[in-house]
Amino acid sequence: MKNNPVTDPLDKLPEILKKNLDQNLCVCNEVVKMDIINAIINGATTVGEIKKQTFATVGSGCCTQQVERLIECLCSAETEK
Ligand code: FES
Repeated sequence: MKNNPVTDPLDKLPEILKKNLDQNLCVCNEVVKMDIINAIINGATTVGEIKKQTFATVGSGCCTQQVERLIECLCSAETEK
């Protein structure tokens, strides 16, 4: 057994947010959760950037809070000092 030095970004998510990764988080635009997570991992840190890259929240914006939550979880550990 050895420690894996590369931390899985998904480890930062609470259990509840790790579920249904292959299902639509944005049902209006059919954007799966994993696409949004990948966009965040690849540098999108605002809802605006997620919107541009994945089209999640475009339209009625009803999933904005969920997207914000993912950004919060995935970005928090990275910026903490
Ligand atoms: S679910 Fe994403 S805009 Fe409605």
